[in-house]
Amino acid sequence: MSKRTGKFRINRFWSVVATLIVIYALIKWGIPAASREITGLPFPLPVPGTLIFMYMVLTLITLFMFVTFSNDYMEEFLGPIKGLLSARYGKLPRLLVLLAVPLIAGWQVYEATVPKIELPSSLRIQHPSSNFPRKFEAMKSPIANPPDTAIEAFIEQAKAGEVELIAQVQPDVERWMEETDPEHMLDFIATAPMKKFLAELKGGTVSKETAKAALLEKYLFEGRALYAMNCRACHGDSVSGDGPMADGFKLRPINFTDNGTIETIVEGYTFWRVANGGPGLPTEATPWDSAMPEWKLSLTEEERWKIIFAEYDLAEKTPRIPEGH
Ligand code: HEC
Repeated sequence: MSKRTGKFRINRFWSVVATLIVIYALIKWGIPAASREITGLPFPLPVPGTLIFMYMVLTLITLFMFVTFSNDYMEEFLGPIKGLLSARYGKLPRLLVLLAVPLIAGWQVYEATVPKIELPSSLRIQHPSSNFPRKFEAMKSPIANPPDTAIEAFIEQAKAGEVELIAQVQPDVERWMEETDPEHMLDFIATAPMKKFLAELKGGTVSKETAKAALLEKYLFEGRALYAMNCRACHGDSVSGDGPMADGFKLRPINFTDNGTIETIVEGYTFWRVANGGPGLPTEATPWDSAMPEWKLSLTEEERWKIIFAEYDLAEKTPRIPEGH
């Protein structure tokens, strides 16, 4: 029934069929192929089935409105269907189509209802390690285990009343000192180990143990400050993965107070994970992209170790001891 008006035109029935096929193909294969180009990942990002369904329903509604726009359009659309049913294209094609439709429908219903044996969809691996460099395994935190030289330097600085602090907290501490004029600049860390250290300092004899405990208090303070600046938005004040940004991520930021997280891994692994973030994860940790940033790009090693030290402390957890230690 296609009317020829000079140019080539296809019948509306076939243009509807072609539109459906093209749109389906674009969503099903076009978008995943484009995603691969855009993200550069070694796998495509498929469009979820429910979304494909929604797009196709919208397409159908649009096409329905288009076809029923006028009686002429409707006539033209129905032309091939009526032609088929009245055997204008022959009896055999009509028979074949009339047999095929119920068979295909029946097959689809069978496919949807028959119980299937399928591999379970693979669970995400929480601690992927296939690309974890072994040399990190026995790594010990230089912050949690300060060397003697660091402790001695700390004692000297404390005696002189000029303890080095990370630049990020320096202005705040200076302002606090101006406002309160404290006896010692470390007074703002009002914990028992620090008080004991300051008392020994006043008395003139400081034991290394006390100094070490106080130095760890200083590191904790710095680590907490760095945590608040860099990690809190996702991992939260309570380190339980409930920061203000957390709800925005499909793969939620880790809850460090959960027993299955930082407690089950060695320090070196945590260090490696924080350094490389989501981009450093191997393929077994995909296809969900982790929003965890690549911290080696913006934090020094020392800052990362201080944060990790504070992170374990805030979560009240200890790292796993490496094998054979
Ligand atoms: C943009 C949000 C975001 C920020 C900011 C962020 N993280 Fe994460 N982090 C995540 C997400 C999401 C995960 C969980 C997914 C995964 O396993 O990679 C995660 C996982 C981790 C893990 C892995 C825990 C485990 O059990 O393997 C550690 C450790 C971690 N983050 C530490 C940090 C530290 C330290 C900082 C700050 C320096 C930080 N994160 C900042 C989002 C974030």
